[in-house]
Amino acid sequence: MAANLLPTSQAFPLDAERADRLAELVRGLDAPGLQWISGYAAGLAAASATALPTAAAVADADAPWAATLVYGSQTGNGRHIAEALGERLLARGLRVRVLRAGEYATRDLARERRLFVVMSTHGDGDPPDDARPLTDFLFGRRAPQLPALEFAVLALGDSSYPKYCDVGRRIDERLAELGARRLFERVDCDVDFESPASRWQARVGEWAERLPAEVAAPSRVAVLRPVASTPAWSRERPYAAEVLANQRITWGEDVRDVRHFELSLAGSGLRYEPGDSLGVVPENPEETVAAVLAAARLDGAEAVERDGRRRLLAEWLAKGLEITLVTRPLIAKIAERGRQAALAALLRPGSEAALRAFLTQHQLVDLLEKSPVDWDAAALVATLRPLAPRLYSVASSAKEASDEVHLTVARVGTGGGLQRPGAASHFLATRAEGATVPVYVEPNPRFRLPADGSRDVIMIGVGTGIAPYRAFLQERAATGARGRNWLLFGARYLARDFLYQLEWQRALKQGTLARIDLAFSRDAGRKTYVQERILASGAALYEWLENGATVYVCGDATRMAPDVHAALAGTIAQHGGFAIEAARERLDQLGADGRYLRDVY
Ligand SMILES: Cc1cc2nc3c(=O)[nH]c(=O)nc-3n(C[C@H](O)[C@H](O)[C@H](O)COP(=O)(O)OP(=O)(O)OC[C@H]3O[C@@H](n4cnc5c(N)ncnc54)[C@H](O)[C@@H]3O)c2cc1C
Ligand SMILES: Cc1cc2nc3c(=O)[nH]c(=O)nc-3n(C[C@H](O)[C@H](O)[C@H](O)COP(=O)(O)O)c2cc1C
Repeated sequence: MAANLLPTSQAFPLDAERADRLAELVRGLDAPGLQWISGYAAGLAAASATALPTAAAVADADAPWAATLVYGSQTGNGRHIAEALGERLLARGLRVRVLRAGEYATRDLARERRLFVVMSTHGDGDPPDDARPLTDFLFGRRAPQLPALEFAVLALGDSSYPKYCDVGRRIDERLAELGARRLFERVDCDVDFESPASRWQARVGEWAERLPAEVAAPSRVAVLRPVASTPAWSRERPYAAEVLANQRITWGEDVRDVRHFELSLAGSGLRYEPGDSLGVVPENPEETVAAVLAAARLDGAEAVERDGRRRLLAEWLAKGLEITLVTRPLIAKIAERGRQAALAALLRPGSEAALRAFLTQHQLVDLLEKSPVDWDAAALVATLRPLAPRLYSVASSAKEASDEVHLTVARVGTGGGLQRPGAASHFLATRAEGATVPVYVEPNPRFRLPADGSRDVIMIGVGTGIAPYRAFLQERAATGARGRNWLLFGARYLARDFLYQLEWQRALKQGTLARIDLAFSRDAGRKTYVQERILASGAALYEWLENGATVYVCGDATRMAPDVHAALAGTIAQHGGFAIEAARERLDQLGADGRYLRDVY
């Protein structure tokens, strides 16, 4: 019984009454429940321990932790790397704290002695949203000189973007400029980040081994653990969730096939919050696997070894490797192998736009069909990168959906059509009810409803960007939040792809939705985009903002997010009476205050 597991020694930190209450609380809980409580308590401990050193008495002293690992991560890659490294350093007793960039108190920087930064680049060379306050501080005039600091940076990015790993690079340069000493050279990670990231983690591990004992030794106060405990299900060990519903919720040919999914998490112990994403571990389309084998003139039944694992070639292509997404490193490898001048030309400076267009219009099979060289199975398997999970915004509140999770997924493919389908959207779309899908929860603590339910929220999105707002509205209704909810949504046609139309109309009638503004870009006579609805509703929007509302933006990163950003700045300028530059600063400040939150992809 759980109560018997509680220690009874004199050193036990709880009095008898609290010990009884704890025993009562954990009685009968399953492993995931216990793990959740363990993580929750570790988080509280981290928060209180973090608070201690900021007391005035120690304000100027060296930090009581040996090292800080800070990560800026939008889609979880950097978070996984930082947390794994943190666990490793903690396991060897190093006094290390692992913090999201948004949690990092910039005033700590001056007394930091050893800093490890894991930072991704997003948007057009921008930091992850919650890393903005830290990067603004660091790049700004108020950043202190840091002669006593030692540091190392791991930059995450994608070399098909012009500003490759830009934020990590700039942080690395800036820390050196402020007088800090680089422990080792920055490592830039492309889309196949696993190997360089683990080499960087190993370097930090070796560095930690060499630290003098008095620096490394743990102290009761300052051992700061990552907030999350090890979850039972993860990216590496996903849960097989049963498909309860797979239903198309758009109509007609000239709109995307968007599907509403209901998956069962019953008995898994998986928990999610509105704003989180669900990671889906896909299998590649069978037709694409067959086409790759045909184009490479290879036999799928040949066994191939990679990373100590032996599988049939067809199985590698179906479950182990990326074949639907073409990336810059893949182009480089294939161009080199086949001595293909046209492909190599895409990699030259000045060809960035052409490269990006090429990547969205081609798949591996297209490259192989043009490849003049013969491939052998081992070379093909060695050339491709591991198949990565895809993220989908959770579209339900557990308070309403209980042990189900809902998703809103658009079927996408190369070249606009579905001739060459995308991996995960096709995998999901072809799962019948009763089939299973391997999933895990990717928490997104940046994208949350306000803790104070009396605050208003403004939810802006296009297409599948509506998904988290369905979760938000369910959550706000279930918790009886009194704040007003406003949806601004864009799609093509009112009658064909206004996702969850009936639910929004019902919410409007019931008053859980205070206001809705819709933009349809293809409806005859009134073609509009969501940014135009923002500008048209500017006075009310500004009034909501002045009243403390939080603004959310979700959906397309390429066009919608920049246009919406400009429209919001324009609204603040016009209705607040600011110059446009001052309005942009106010918007940035809203972001730093956690009142302008984006989840764009
Ligand atoms: C935090 C986060 C939340 C997300 N939430 C959602 C969500 O709620 N619903 C949802 O549908 N998607 C969502 N996505 C996108 C999703 O993760 C996948 O990228 C998307 O489903 C494509 O994956 P795929 O494996 O089907 O295609 P891939 O195999 O990755 O891509 C193959 C080809 O499909 C085309 N393609 C890929 N993505 C798109 C696109 N968005 N538009 C047009 N063409 C494309 C390209 O030509 C690409 O080369 C989210 C992404 C992130 C990072
Ligand atoms: C919308 C979007 C924009 C991106 N922009 C850039 C970019 O400008 N430069 C770059 O190097 N990488 C860019 N990336 C790639 C990410 O940095 C890369 O996927 C990284 O592994 C993400 O790490 P994270 O999950 O920790 O945020 C972008 C990714 C997305 C989804």
